[in-house]
Amino acid sequence: MSYQVIARKYRPQTFDDVVGQRVVTETLKNAIQTDRVAHGYIFSGARGVGKTTTARILAKALNCAKGPTIAPDGTCASCLEIAAGNSVDVQEIDAASNRGIDEIRELREAVRYLPARDRYKIFIIDEAHMLTTEAFNALLKTLEEPPPRSLFIMATTEAHKLPSTIQSRCQHFAFRLLDYSEIYDRLRAVIAEEKVEADEGAISTLAQAAEGSVRDALSLLDQVIAACGGRLDEKRVRQVLGVVPTELLADMMKAVNAADSRRVLEMAGQLAAEGYELAHFCGELTRFVRDLMIGRSCGAESSLLQVPSEQRKQIAELAARFSEEDLSRFFNVLLRAEGEMRYALAPRFHLELALVKMVQARRLASLETFLSGLGGAGISATNSSSPRANPGSPVPAAPAAPRQIRSENLERPIANREPEARRPQPEGPRAGGVQSPAVRGTATAAAAAPTPASDDPRWSAIKGKVYAKSNFLGSCLEHVARCQIAEGEVSVEFAQKDSFFAEMVKSREQHAALRAASEEVLGQPVRIYVRLGEQETGTRAERPNARERAERDQTVEAFRRKFDGTLLDVKDLSRE
Ligand SMILES: Nc1ncnc2c1ncn2[C@@H]1O[C@H](COP(=O)(O)OP(=O)(O)O)[C@@H](O)[C@H]1O
Ligand SMILES: [Mg+2]
Ligand SMILES: [Zn+2]
Repeated sequence: MSYQVIARKYRPQTFDDVVGQRVVTETLKNAIQTDRVAHGYIFSGARGVGKTTTARILAKALNCAKGPTIAPDGTCASCLEIAAGNSVDVQEIDAASNRGIDEIRELREAVRYLPARDRYKIFIIDEAHMLTTEAFNALLKTLEEPPPRSLFIMATTEAHKLPSTIQSRCQHFAFRLLDYSEIYDRLRAVIAEEKVEADEGAISTLAQAAEGSVRDALSLLDQVIAACGGRLDEKRVRQVLGVVPTELLADMMKAVNAADSRRVLEMAGQLAAEGYELAHFCGELTRFVRDLMIGRSCGAESSLLQVPSEQRKQIAELAARFSEEDLSRFFNVLLRAEGEMRYALAPRFHLELALVKMVQARRLASLETFLSGLGGAGISATNSSSPRANPGSPVPAAPAAPRQIRSENLERPIANREPEARRPQPEGPRAGGVQSPAVRGTATAAAAAPTPASDDPRWSAIKGKVYAKSNFLGSCLEHVARCQIAEGEVSVEFAQKDSFFAEMVKSREQHAALRAASEEVLGQPVRIYVRLGEQETGTRAERPNARERAERDQTVEAFRRKFDGTLLDVKDLSRE
């Protein structure tokens, strides 16, 4: 005897054998018992949830020699022929194969004749949404004036694609996806019948992989029996199906949450060592993050989550540790990596990069929060405690500068920052928050004012150190007009005419050298701030104006300090 695939072998033969579609089967049974069977039915739902099966059972129920009955015997000629798919009076049409034009034409012919032997002439149209307009029109005519003792059952995965004229003439049954536990039980029953041994984890793995479709569950079972024989254990089943344990996915996300890049890389290495297909793993992780995202946004009870109920708690718990932005960022990173990995020579690198990016994105998020807090602190400090240096020219408020900075924008600058910029800032003097630029920049008190460069012995010492290493930088520094050294910051000012030297000092290499020399002299971490003095000539009126505003703006100042940056260029967006 030839081998029959499990899904076919275990096709339910009675209404009560159909799992998980009680609403449908009870309604149909009721219709049969009260002799109220309609002329047209639409069975909609995902693949492998029992549409064709139920259509055949309905056909048997109506045409069984002992019928109409809700419990067809399954042994009479009609029942046997219907089950085998070769009954003259029950015709199955696959609209997907040739869009059904010929069949529907034939159908219109056939429907005019009474059933050859049985009570009803029944047409089961599979993938009905694929019918052509022409075929739909032909069908519609028949449905408008249904010949007596005829029945149409349209099975479709996409009911919304059926013309409304057809829909309105049929009874519509929506078949649901099955729960994990329903599929688990069905699998266990079939496995017992097949005399296969399987541990709980193996069945559970299959049930999850089926994602609500009984047919998929049974096809996968076929696949693992073929690979493993009569003994199924969880590990082997996972390997055959390429299923990544949820625990592993959860662990990975926990490591991301802890911003533990070492751990994520070690885990990736372990996966590779254990022979996991990494692109597949990446896909699974993407799916998991998607679940977390749904758990975060819609709640863990959402029907959008196709996971066993005991997993929902875990998802809720894990999702709560991330923000929606985090999760969508991860989702984005993973989707991209998954696409790249398919063609990559070294998929492992892409996975590692994606994982590290996620860890970084995690750190970034808190920085983002930090920064937004920072802007506010700077503003309040200025308003409350530090009178303006120059009350005659009020400093205009910054036009929404901080709000333009979003996490996406931050991603690059931070990733590219030189390592030295990450050095922890000294705590002490800064503990009270950012000092207002009005205090430090524009001379509130004589003591804080920048001194002529020549007057400060520390500056001379710094220059000495610089000269020892670089004559070029040393000679650039000779052009410094004024400098101010305080609180771990060395601020040097060049005159406008010396902007060339200022640019030189701003370059990455020179900037770093000046910093190193300053730190040596001052014995503490130092930030370098290079600026140009007031413009003496009034050539372009707007530019110095905008620049001046930017330089005095407390938010700009806060950013400059935080990132240890230099104000290179100012654009007046309101004038563009
Ligand atoms: N609700 C169900 N209960 C039990 N078995 C089912 C169910 N749905 C599908 N199956 C299994 O899957 C196979 C295919 O089901 P079928 O009814 O053809 O699905 P579809 O919804 O795609 O028409 C059946 O032979 C049966 O083994
Ligand atoms: Mg089907
Ligand atoms: Zn029968």
